[in-house]
Amino acid sequence: MRPVAVLVGTMGAGKSTVGELLATTLGVAFLDSDQLIEERAGKSVQDIFVEDGEATFRALERETVAHALTHHDGVLSLGGGAVLDPATQALLAPHQVVFLRVGLADAVKRVGLGVGRPLLLGNIRSRVKQLLDERTPVYQGLARITVDTDGRTPEDVAAEVVERI
Ligand code: S3P
Repeated sequence: MRPVAVLVGTMGAGKSTVGELLATTLGVAFLDSDQLIEERAGKSVQDIFVEDGEATFRALERETVAHALTHHDGVLSLGGGAVLDPATQALLAPHQVVFLRVGLADAVKRVGLGVGRPLLLGNIRSRVKQLLDERTPVYQGLARITVDTDGRTPEDVAAEVVERI
């Protein structure tokens, strides 16, 4: 069993919204790694970061993503930092990885005040820029398909993904 598509990209790329639309169009289930982690931990991502620390979150994320990649056959959306883990990167190799690319302006607009996003403390714009600069090459390197999302509706982006997977 393997997901029909795995969505990667930074916060504000629209992975969850596009992922749900994509799954509905394809008639398959949608899973989001952050949601799976929250169910497993019994608390929010924000609370895991604050109470247990980022390292604990990353360990949970690694296990959760590994399980989802082998036991799920719908659309899977990964938290923005999940693909930085080398073990996760290796597991992604046989998958249809779709990178939803977003530029700084749209990413900042979409994350708003950064509520529920523990890595966006401080100056949101400079934090988002830093994450985009550091991670875009990683997403690009893992993706089979890259779809630009700037200035587009989630429906439009999902329709392009459907055409290209
Ligand atoms: C993170 C992204 C978040 C969430 C956590 C860490 C990151 O997911 O996993 O706050 O490292 O970029 P989204 O990309 O779905 O917001």
